[in-house]
Amino acid sequence: MQDRFTPRQQLQAEVTRIGVFDSGVGGLTVLQEVYRQLPHESVLYFGDTARVPYGTRSAAEIIQFTRETLDWMVSQRVKMAIMACNTSSALALEIVRSEYDLPILGVILPGARAAAFQGQRIGVIATPATVQSDAYLHAIQEANPHAEVWQVACPEFVPIIENNRLQEPATLEIAKQYLQPLLDRSIDTLVYGCTHYPHLEPILRKFVPANVRFINPAIHVVNAATKELNLLGINSNIEAIPTKFIVSGDPQQFANLAAQWLPTQLVVEQIALGLRL
Ligand code: DGL
Repeated sequence: MQDRFTPRQQLQAEVTRIGVFDSGVGGLTVLQEVYRQLPHESVLYFGDTARVPYGTRSAAEIIQFTRETLDWMVSQRVKMAIMACNTSSALALEIVRSEYDLPILGVILPGARAAAFQGQRIGVIATPATVQSDAYLHAIQEANPHAEVWQVACPEFVPIIENNRLQEPATLEIAKQYLQPLLDRSIDTLVYGCTHYPHLEPILRKFVPANVRFINPAIHVVNAATKELNLLGINSNIEAIPTKFIVSGDPQQFANLAAQWLPTQLVVEQIALGLRL
């Protein structure tokens, strides 16, 4: 009797993906690390682009959006979720983690630990909500009580990146203004406290002194995910299938923007995440 499924369909049916989510293209910096460190894992990527930015929203909104995303990810049967968003990780992770029968990882703890082990004078750039939460300050000082930490909120960075304005001359000037208070403190380490910000690296490298170490929490959260997958025995040993990209806003706009950081042309679908009752 002939098989009901083609080999490709059979493979797709067997694959369980890791869910990676953010408000927009910031989570792509985490996705790139998944590709590098976990090449066998398949990913379901969600960007809540209809509601970006998260960083200037209230805690109640951020928690609600995070729950809606996780509810949907569970309905898609992901085996793990990575909050590729510092704002959700800072405001929602500890509240929602116990509500789901799913391993959920956030970016702040792995990033803060990496910073605490490598630096003494640490600058954190992040969204206003993340800075206000002091999540990095507490996590860094818990790992290294002697570390000095300064945080700067950078509300304009996410709109600049989401609207594809990285190359405009004004972006360099805005970046210099945000970073100056940290450079005045002679930081030795700079933490990207928002997953969008590694996209700014070519601009920041133009004026941040070469002795300042950049900490990209994406590297460290994927490292933590690798350990967790192994520990739970749910790591993939079959070939990865292409990432599924879903957004809540305009799929074409996301595909065009994301193309500058990813090697292949993306197929992006749209969903609407409803209000959670
Ligand atoms: N990329 C996210 C973060 O790491 C969200 C930024 C935003 O939407 O304001 O905080």
